[in-house]
Amino acid sequence: MPEEQRIVVLGVGPGHPQYLSVIGSELLWQAHAVAGFAAVLKSAEPWIHGEKLVMDYKNQELVLEAIAARAARGERCVVCAAGDSCVSAGELIARVRRRWRLVDVIPGISSVQVAAARAGITLEESLVISLHQRAEVGADMVELTEELGRGRRNIIVLIRPWDLMPPDIARGLLSAGIAAARPVSVFEELTLETEKLHSFALEELARSPYKFSDRSVMVFPRA
Ligand SMILES: C[S@@+](CC[C@H](N)C(=O)[O-])C[C@H]1O[C@@H](n2cnc3c(N)ncnc32)[C@H](O)[C@@H]1O
Repeated sequence: MPEEQRIVVLGVGPGHPQYLSVIGSELLWQAHAVAGFAAVLKSAEPWIHGEKLVMDYKNQELVLEAIAARAARGERCVVCAAGDSCVSAGELIARVRRRWRLVDVIPGISSVQVAAARAGITLEESLVISLHQRAEVGADMVELTEELGRGRRNIIVLIRPWDLMPPDIARGLLSAGIAAARPVSVFEELTLETEKLHSFALEELARSPYKFSDRSVMVFPRA
């Protein structure tokens, strides 16, 4: 029954298709239509049989309208989110929910988990702060500064391309009084062939001319 049709928001993992879950691959395989940003759809590519609807920041409302119209016709539709659909993907889920009542959120492996694994830390000893949001990030920068001062937890930071890249964040922390020697790692393009790890003292990162990828996660190990 069309009104019982559900739209799936699927976390497709951090990049490499091998990190996509088995249930995710099955849902994609069965879908009539699959929507997502181009880079995100790449992770799902091997399992997409139906029509691909490529979103960007300009057309995403129109694409989600089209997905809801197809769900209303009884078609199976999947909207892909990068990484885990429950990590910094709330805006996308809210947009889908505004158009369709029955939404299933299926988690995936997050870039946060892969960064933790690479850094040899656990999530229960860490705080995750996402700066990847449209809203003002002032309160999150204050929280990041305060937690770095406490030194109780590792801190994992999702950056905001392209105005809050790792060197911008490092400069903000230095001017808020965090020690210049504070170690920080940047994990770039996790799980992809282009994956790289950069390790810095905070001051070096602040001065770095390197052009980081928009897929970068910062990890501050606890002091
Ligand atoms: C909108 S957030 C989405 C996070 C995603 N839901 C997750 O669980 O990984 C996008 C941010 O995630 C991080 N990110 C996503 N994929 C990544 C990857 N393969 N390597 C490093 N960082 C990544 C970057 O900080 C990027 O700016």
